[in-house]
Amino acid sequence: MKYRSGKEIRDLFVKFWVGKGSRHYPSFSLTPDDPSLLFTIAGMVPFKAYYLGIRTPEAPHAVTCQKCVRTNDIENVGRTARHHTFFEMLGNFAWGSYFKREAITWAWEFLTEVIGLDSSKMYASIYQDDQEANDAWRGSVGLSESRILRFGRDENYWFMGERGPCGPCSEIYYDRGEKCDCGSLNCGVGCDCDRYMEIWNLVFTQYDRQQDGTLIPLPRSNIDTGMGLERLTSLVQGVETDYESDLFMPLITHTCARAGVRYGECAKRDMAVRVIADHARSVAFMLADGILPANDGPGYVLRRLLRRAARYGRLLGFEGGFLHEYLPILIEVMGDPYRELIEQRLTIEKIMEVEESRFAKTLAQGTELFEAEAARLRGERRMVLSGDVAFALYDTYGFPLELTLEMAEEQGLSVDKEGFEEAMKAQRQRARAGSKQKKSALTGDLYTELENELPPTVFTGYAAHSGEGKILALLAGGVQVEWVDTGAEFEVVLDATPFYAERGGQVGDAGKLYVENKAVIKVLDTTPQGKLIIHKGKLTEGARAAVGMGVRAQVDDERRAAVRRNHTATHLLHEALSRVLGGHVRQAGSLVTDRLLRFDYTHHEALSREQIEKVEEIVNVHVLADTVLDVVECSLDEARARGAKALFDEKYGEVVRVVTAPGFSVELCGGLHVRATGEVGLFKILREESVGSGTRRVVAVTGMNALGAFQRASRLANQVMERLSADESNLTSKTEALLEELRRLQRQVQEVRLKELAQDAERVFQRKDVGGVILQTGRLTSTQPEMLRDVGDRAKGRCSPTVVVMSVVEEGECRLTVMADDAAVKRGVNAGALVKEAAALLGGRGGGRPGIAQGGGRDAARLDEVLVKIETLLEGQLNK
Ligand code: SER
Repeated sequence: MKYRSGKEIRDLFVKFWVGKGSRHYPSFSLTPDDPSLLFTIAGMVPFKAYYLGIRTPEAPHAVTCQKCVRTNDIENVGRTARHHTFFEMLGNFAWGSYFKREAITWAWEFLTEVIGLDSSKMYASIYQDDQEANDAWRGSVGLSESRILRFGRDENYWFMGERGPCGPCSEIYYDRGEKCDCGSLNCGVGCDCDRYMEIWNLVFTQYDRQQDGTLIPLPRSNIDTGMGLERLTSLVQGVETDYESDLFMPLITHTCARAGVRYGECAKRDMAVRVIADHARSVAFMLADGILPANDGPGYVLRRLLRRAARYGRLLGFEGGFLHEYLPILIEVMGDPYRELIEQRLTIEKIMEVEESRFAKTLAQGTELFEAEAARLRGERRMVLSGDVAFALYDTYGFPLELTLEMAEEQGLSVDKEGFEEAMKAQRQRARAGSKQKKSALTGDLYTELENELPPTVFTGYAAHSGEGKILALLAGGVQVEWVDTGAEFEVVLDATPFYAERGGQVGDAGKLYVENKAVIKVLDTTPQGKLIIHKGKLTEGARAAVGMGVRAQVDDERRAAVRRNHTATHLLHEALSRVLGGHVRQAGSLVTDRLLRFDYTHHEALSREQIEKVEEIVNVHVLADTVLDVVECSLDEARARGAKALFDEKYGEVVRVVTAPGFSVELCGGLHVRATGEVGLFKILREESVGSGTRRVVAVTGMNALGAFQRASRLANQVMERLSADESNLTSKTEALLEELRRLQRQVQEVRLKELAQDAERVFQRKDVGGVILQTGRLTSTQPEMLRDVGDRAKGRCSPTVVVMSVVEEGECRLTVMADDAAVKRGVNAGALVKEAAALLGGRGGGRPGIAQGGGRDAARLDEVLVKIETLLEGQLNK
């Protein structure tokens, strides 16, 4: 068999299927538009809607080399020859075109003729009663009966997940020879050992599995195949494990060189080397697809892998962050075809570094805690690490539970997972306590009734801001009513309305409803309720409004214009952020009102001043360009073709709305926008802040609000300049000089006060001989501890042996400082002991060393008594 690189094999596969008429798609993202999956786990995932018949395929059959992440077996990754979290799946897919016979014969053709595998070493398995597959292997390929194995549902049935496409499958195996035999009597095709290597899974996708397990036949018979590129490459290159193929070797070599070790000499180190190679790939590709470290979802898996790699790095003696070093190597090996690695390189490296250094800070401490605990348990001959320790490792030191489990296992310990869950639950409850649920005055049931009763409200507001309608329902005080009058707020449903109901972050419209009998309803807010639009308002003119009456609805156009400006600006901001920060920036939430816009997005660190200005510049350049927005309704496919993000997402209906700022931003959006970008007027970011892990927020204003922000800023600056008699050229230097002057004066004041205090102290200290030691007692007014210390030192310098007792009473609280000079300490005086008892008498606490101690309490009224007590205590100490 001819040696081929991993890249060659990838290209040959694609070329082969394109030759059979398949459409080639570049790999889709690792994040599927499918809420039932965290990651793209197989080549078929991006095509799910084709399998289910929800969308019409763009071509009858296709080929991909798809980036995949699987997380069901992370602990095994590194331990074995072929477990990976990230891998590439070579796959061909057909939707109602070719079926079992072609899928089987073409797969055989590729492996034997293109790759050159030895057909005498190949086997196939089929689902037990799949006669059609059997016929294809026997008749079309000519495989002998003895090489066709029949297995049951556990082995030869493939499910995408709990729900979704599935079907019987046929797998192709390659016998790697006796040297790889596990020696078990039952070793044969299907054995988990390394001898009979499963290379290709051909799935005949015929059913859609429901939540309850029932299988519903799909509208078409489909093909979905998957073959791990890493496996096939290792076979072609004749190496023992996937990790020794050219897809991994450069990563392995780097790790070994960095650690100064040789691969293949020590099993434990080899495992660490493999873990790092695998996880470096996963982490880099996840980051390239915009996933960011987080405490749940895909971001948590990313964090978990990165931290697992960091820990294995420590086993090789690595300190600090190191994963980013693998990026140039990955780019070398996989930059073609995965250009995202190149395009996102800086972002990936940066996030790796930030995340690694964050964990590096606690990794050592956490490991220490873990080791100490493990040693203690061993000493006590116990086997279970408590849930509380696992939780402390998680909560304080950032150890994912799975990491703790793995570390425990290495030491032969188990972990009390239930205890961990309980500790976690208790923390969540603590966090939740106090948060209240808001309830609508109207019950959900009433709305449901109404929705069943009424036709959907016709929304006319994209084109107009006023229109005629009829009152279909009125709701007040939680019930439907026939009429309303002045006073309380109520809700109105019309047959048609130009009022936009709050959606996609954009607030609902406000305005007026002019009723035919001259009554006027002031609409304060508009919200959606299923297919109905609900106007919330009050009667401001006239006596009553009743169901059945006609109205002219008039949106508050000025307010809406401000909202439209902010909405268009939000799109421009989104695009500008991706250009400045990188393609990982995704919208995580937004609010568009008439006053401001608030945009939450995925990113790991604060924007710098320069980045804020750059974003403002980009947005304002597009505002000044005054390009006319293009708003079209089209199919999701067409939206995709226009470059709007959102693939195969079932949330969107058949028709979607695409808002384009030509040459700049394209977004799926149901909201209201300006006609041309120039109407935004001016865009200004007010602030930037964090809203939780991996998510940042920008708050910005447009139009007159932006002008207002500039006016406020310049008013403020002018006021300051006036007060300082400065202008723009010297404001900063003058402020600096002023601050310097202030610091100088503060120092002076301090010196003067100290002098005063010292003189004061001269007067206030009363001296008394107690058993040969001079007890100096003073009631002071100073509140600054360092001054007190100074005064005490001076008093100490005046005589010897001496004990100095200083008290300060402030707002009913008394603070005591007691100092004893060396000679007094030698005679047995202990200031700490004195203060301890004295403070207790004052109703507080205190203590310290023999030479100096501090304390106090709220019972300042007992100060006289306390001073007498100190004298007695001192006598006691001297007589000991
Ligand atoms: N979906 C099947 C698998 O993942 C074939 O691609 O094995």
